[in-house]
Amino acid sequence: MHNRVVCLASRPAGRLVPDNLAIVDAEVPPLAPGEVLIRNTWLSIDPSIRLRLNAATPSGYLPPLVPGDPLVGLALGTVVESRSPEFAAGELVSHMFGYRTYAVVAAGGETLGGAGGLTRIDPGEFAPEWYLGPLGSAGLTAYVGLFEILELKPKDVLWVSAAAGAVGSIAVQLATLRGNTVVASAGGPEKVEYLRNALGASHAIDYRAGDLKKQLAEAVPDGIDAYFDNVGGDHLGAALNHLRPGGRVAMCGAVSTYDTDSPAPGPTNLFQITAKSLQMRGFRAGAYDGLYADFRSEVGGYLTAGMMTYQETVFEGLEQAPAALVGMLNGRNTGKTLCRL
Ligand SMILES: NC(=O)c1ccc[n+]([C@@H]2O[C@H](COP(=O)([O-])OP(=O)(O)OC[C@H]3O[C@@H](n4cnc5c(N)ncnc54)[C@H](OP(=O)(O)O)[C@@H]3O)[C@@H](O)[C@H]2O)c1
Repeated sequence: MHNRVVCLASRPAGRLVPDNLAIVDAEVPPLAPGEVLIRNTWLSIDPSIRLRLNAATPSGYLPPLVPGDPLVGLALGTVVESRSPEFAAGELVSHMFGYRTYAVVAAGGETLGGAGGLTRIDPGEFAPEWYLGPLGSAGLTAYVGLFEILELKPKDVLWVSAAAGAVGSIAVQLATLRGNTVVASAGGPEKVEYLRNALGASHAIDYRAGDLKKQLAEAVPDGIDAYFDNVGGDHLGAALNHLRPGGRVAMCGAVSTYDTDSPAPGPTNLFQITAKSLQMRGFRAGAYDGLYADFRSEVGGYLTAGMMTYQETVFEGLEQAPAALVGMLNGRNTGKTLCRL
């Protein structure tokens, strides 16, 4: 059977451009026992794959891809054929072999650091692709970051960065619904409008519009208790300065450092952590998949009740996957970035 696969054509020199990726024709291999053949219907476009396009990845993270390798990423699809007793043709599943039309996936096989194992999805009342967004990895990441890592308390003043994106937009709303004061930041006036009016953030900051530290101090002059970091770099530096003593940081991601082959050095004010007894904790949401039931019950309830909004930026067809990844890394998305096959 004929397949089409998005591969790394050449390593990016600086920022990723669509020509660094190529769509390659391939044959689907025959199924081995325990494997299923899936026709992908939705691809999740996630920033972290960019780290694996450089010649080396951060230590402890997934290994780099080699030119010619297919990209991987979370995806949703329908089982076409199964040689696993656990899955039957026609079932909707999620897995980690996105960026291709057809995927051959082993039940109980590889994952992306815990995320993306082959899993049956019963979408119920929700659109299937929401299981890549608010009811999938993006939503779980927001939930874990807020409640397991930051252990958000009712009176905490929270800052969420990259707040108009997939993870950030859920984090802002979950904290707002719990009654917290939430400062949300993103790039550009339209996103600021979205943060304020659609997501209900208490304060919205356009980090591209001027001095981030000054804008933060104007929004919440008495400081913040918790920072949900999606960006790293200058945002993390601003947070360390503005956290109150005993404040906490959830290190969810550092998107400002991904789209380059030479990331800038980290913040120069790390002594703030000592001076103010701050806590910084990193996490990978894939390690918390035991929380799916609780998280889906809470977020699903908010979505059903119309208390939470959810936006997607959808690209059509596998051919658009390179543009989708480049666009998302450059902020040309609101909410979850997806490619529909
Ligand atoms: N720890 C985990 O398990 C886990 C799981 C999923 C995702 N993540 C992390 O969560 C973060 C958000 O991921 P996502 O999937 O929700 O992506 P997203 O926020 O939907 O898209 C990425 C956003 O990053 C922003 N951005 C890009 N370059 C930036 C820069 N230099 N400074 C500030 N903002 C920049 C852009 O928004 P603007 O227009 O606002 O610039 C863009 O929309 C990423 O760091 C990702 O790696 C972590």
